[in-house]
Amino acid sequence: MLKPATPLLPAAVLAVAALLGGCGEDAPPASTRNTAALAPSDPALAKIYDSSCKLCHANPASGAPQTGDAKAWQPRLAQGGDSLLDHSINGYKGMPPMGMCMQCSEDEFLALISFMSGQQVR
Ligand code: HEC
Repeated sequence: MLKPATPLLPAAVLAVAALLGGCGEDAPPASTRNTAALAPSDPALAKIYDSSCKLCHANPASGAPQTGDAKAWQPRLAQGGDSLLDHSINGYKGMPPMGMCMQCSEDEFLALISFMSGQQVR
């Protein structure tokens, strides 16, 4: 007799429910939400993002603050835009200089940081 695959279903539903659960302290990192699907609305910026920042900022294993994870960005934003820009250009711990976008301008870095953090930076 073949056993129906239904016993798997409740577990899957629970997992989804847990992901949608939201803001609790024990919620999974925001990166398990739809981080990979987020993109800047400006097409040119989206292209840059796709080939640079996204490689790490939509990849939890990198240790980078994830795109759309307001909590992760909060303490970073608190440093101020100048510091974030400086760390983007010159690197900061695991953050490589220029974030793998060698041709990016300061304005583009600021726009990318604003997009990823969800807050207008300078
Ligand atoms: C190779 C992986 C990688 C890429 C590509 C990358 N980052 Fe990062 N980024 C990191 C990591 C890791 C951190 C966390 C560093 C830490 O605090 O330990 C980080 C942190 C940051 C921070 C916060 C720095 C601070 O002062 O707290 C900013 C801003 C940032 N990245 C911007 C960018 C931008 C903009 C791009 C794309 C142009 C980008 N990153 C591309 C890995 C990356």
